[in-house]
Amino acid sequence: MKVWLCENPIGVEALNWRELPDPTPSPTEVFIKIQAASLNFPDLLIVQNKYQMKPPLPFVPGSEFAGTVVAIGDEVKHLKVGQAVACLSGTGGFGTHTLAPASLCIPLPENFDPVDAAAFIMIYATSYHALVDRAQLKASETVLVLGAAGGVGSSAIQIAKAMGATVIAAASSQEKCDFCLKLGADKTINYSEVNLREKLKELTNGKGPDVIYDPVGGEFTEPAFRSIAWRGRYLVVGFAAGTIPNLPINLALLKGASLVGVFWGDFAKREPENNAAMMKTLIQWYVDKKIKPPIDSTMPMDQLFQAYSKMSSRAVMGKLVMVNQ
Ligand SMILES: NC(=O)c1ccc[n+]([C@@H]2O[C@H](COP(=O)([O-])OP(=O)(O)OC[C@H]3O[C@@H](n4cnc5c(N)ncnc54)[C@H](OP(=O)(O)O)[C@@H]3O)[C@@H](O)[C@H]2O)c1
Repeated sequence: MKVWLCENPIGVEALNWRELPDPTPSPTEVFIKIQAASLNFPDLLIVQNKYQMKPPLPFVPGSEFAGTVVAIGDEVKHLKVGQAVACLSGTGGFGTHTLAPASLCIPLPENFDPVDAAAFIMIYATSYHALVDRAQLKASETVLVLGAAGGVGSSAIQIAKAMGATVIAAASSQEKCDFCLKLGADKTINYSEVNLREKLKELTNGKGPDVIYDPVGGEFTEPAFRSIAWRGRYLVVGFAAGTIPNLPINLALLKGASLVGVFWGDFAKREPENNAAMMKTLIQWYVDKKIKPPIDSTMPMDQLFQAYSKMSSRAVMGKLVMVNQ
């Protein structure tokens, strides 16, 4: 097998495309031939030693991937050789093959496109958990999505629309705003050009959004929170801008609003049955064509440097997926 090996987590440039012997799965693991692996924001951080999870060295980055089971551990019951799976194991995806814990592999229905499958779990699980479970979003409500053309942002548009809510998508360019409209957003705000607070007032007739989905952090968090509606729920999803904002907590009192943390990874570990039920719903929504990962582009697996560079320069709309030919 060939993999992108990280022996020294000082940045993408230190990764090496290496040939390794095929390993044998332990009793609870499977060996997977990878067809596609998507980039998620943590893949940028993990190779710089800046992510909360710090895998022992050397490791293969690539948090999320899809492929076919080619060998199986003795204790694995829910998978068989030849089964198509999607997996979010945190590492291992950027290569031709990987070992993965069988418990993290989701068997896919027939005809589930492997590129879509590699781009599916992280974004939809995060946004469904955030909007449905944590925010209890209602069809009559309005959601503001920040960083709406990014991976989790674009999935939040689709999940909110599938629930019947009104979506205001906010992003940093007109091209990204147009992309969000194509995904189903009702209105957009280009926050590089207009004042976020004034535009939100105008678009919501002074009421403000009921739910705010924030995977960006940084300079827009405070003005967004100041704009929230009475009884609003502000979803803290991530800090792609790189800074963790400080909020004056009197703002929560004034709006009767809630600041709601979203940590899908821990939800999946602490509440595995609820997570499994959620994944079942999401796979059915895909089969019913209610949701489909927006694929920015695919690139051959050996072009990982170019993919990392595109993502870190904020140039990806939706998901970027590496594929094995
Ligand atoms: N809480 C959870 O359970 C959970 C789960 C998954 C991901 N996350 C987090 O969510 C965040 C977004 O992840 P993602 O995979 O959707 O990333 P992504 O596809 O790169 O999207 C991030 C968006 O953030 C905006 N942004 C603003 N400043 C940026 C900067 N300096 N660098 C990069 N992007 C910047 C960009 O939109 P504009 O150009 O339009 O501003 C970009 O589209 C990350 O912090 C990730 O760790 C959290």
